[in-house]
Parts: sequence; structure tokens; C-alpha cells
Amino acid sequence: MNLHSYPDPVVAAEACAGYIATKLAEALAVRGYATLAISGGNSPKPMFARLISAELPWDRLHVFWVDERAVSPDDPESNYRLANETLLSKVPIPATNVHRIRAELVPEEAARDYEREIRGFFRLAHGQMPAFDVMHRGMGPDAHTASLFPGESLIEDRAGLVAAVYVEKKQQWRVTLLPGPLLAARDTVMLVTGGDKAEPLRAVLQGPVDPVHFPAQLMPQGEPTAAWFLDEAAARLLAKA
Ligand code: 6PG
Repeated sequence: MNLHSYPDPVVAAEACAGYIATKLAEALAVRGYATLAISGGNSPKPMFARLISAELPWDRLHVFWVDERAVSPDDPESNYRLANETLLSKVPIPATNVHRIRAELVPEEAARDYEREIRGFFRLAHGQMPAFDVMHRGMGPDAHTASLFPGESLIEDRAGLVAAVYVEKKQQWRVTLLPGPLLAARDTVMLVTGGDKAEPLRAVLQGPVDPVHFPAQLMPQGEPTAAWFLDEAAARLLAKA
């Protein structure tokens, strides 16, 4: 298990940014360009801020989203707005390299639109999954990841790429990558901070495998399946290896 724990959530987020920059540089060296899929929420803010100074060749980086709330891009709830305000507006990334989810559309249309964007960019054959070079995900206090919340039947889907989902507990439509792309990522980085994540993190990492109830368990195969960047508050219940 590739766990990195830090006393402070900001330090954990900044270390996560350093790892992402390293993995993107490795991908760039192989293919000449790299793809990064990012999540939203609060914990990524210092991670985005740290990426500004990572001196990455943004003209060769393509940014996608793991999920998005069904709101306009200037809505305070928007994951795009968060990333744009804290990172993308501060680096020389061409607009054509920013592949946002057009969540201002009707959710189902936004999902189809985003899927078309992904299929076109990755030139996917039928049944093929996109292999994002770096997939950044978080985990909610209920062990959700992306916008796949516990009990969501789409957690068992392995064929689809993108879906519109209604999240009952948030009373909100979301557009999210489905498990297929999550499982196909070349490198997955999980940024999980905050004391409210300690119990679910213990269940996700050390409990029985049950992704329908612990969606953050959705992980690519192989070792290590992901790099986890934690603060001590989130890691406090983990049995010492
Ligand atoms: C979202 C995110 C979501 C996030 C978790 C954790 O749209 O909310 O994509 O999956 O990663 O909710 O959020 P925090 O890191 O802010 O706790």
C-alpha cells in the first residue's frame, strides 16, 4: 500500500501535488503529452495552488474532470470554477486543453457531451476505456469517490464511461466518470484529509472489499493500485502496517 501521511492537510495536499507533477512528467517523457483528471471538493485547493509553481509544460497537458455538479461553470459549487480560480487561470494552459464537463446542460446531455469529448480525445475504439495518465480522486466521509455514492448501482458498471447521477443526499444532479475509466487510469492518487475521513478510510483500506458500499475501494488492479496522500487526522484509525 502506497500511503503517505502528513501532520497537516495542506502539507498532504502539497505533497500530493508534487507526486502528480512527477507522474505527469513521466507521462510527458513517454508520449509527449499527458492527461490529468481532477476532482473537486475542499481538500484539493492547496494541491491546485501548489501545481502553479510546478513549472509543468501546460501546453502539453490536458485537464479533465472526474466529476462535476450540475451547475453553471461560474457557480460556487462548480468543480470547474474551483480548479479555474485556484490553478488553471494562473498557468499558461491553452483553452483547448481544458476539457470541462458542460454541466450547465441538462445532466443527461452533459454526460453524453463529455463522453463524446473523451471518446474523441482518446480516439477510443468500441469498448475501449480512456487511460488517463493521472487520476486525482478524493473520498467523502461516506467513502464516496467521484460522484459515486454508497449504494449507487452504477458502481457495478464496467462498460460505461460517463453518467448523470442524482445524488439523493446532496439533492443534486452530478455528472461523473464511471468505474471503467477510474479502473483504467495509469496512476491514481487519492487525497484524503480530515478527521471525518478516519472511519471510512479504515473501512476502505483495511475492511472487507465492498465497493458498492465503499466506492473509494474502486481501484485499478496491480500494485500499487494508488498513492494515498493523507493527513494524520484521516489516518488516525489505520492499523500500523
Ligand atoms: C466532488 C468531488 C468529490 C470529492 C469528495 C471529497 O465533486 O465533491 O469530486 O468526489 O472528492 O467529496 O471532497 P473533500 O476532499 O473536499 O472532502
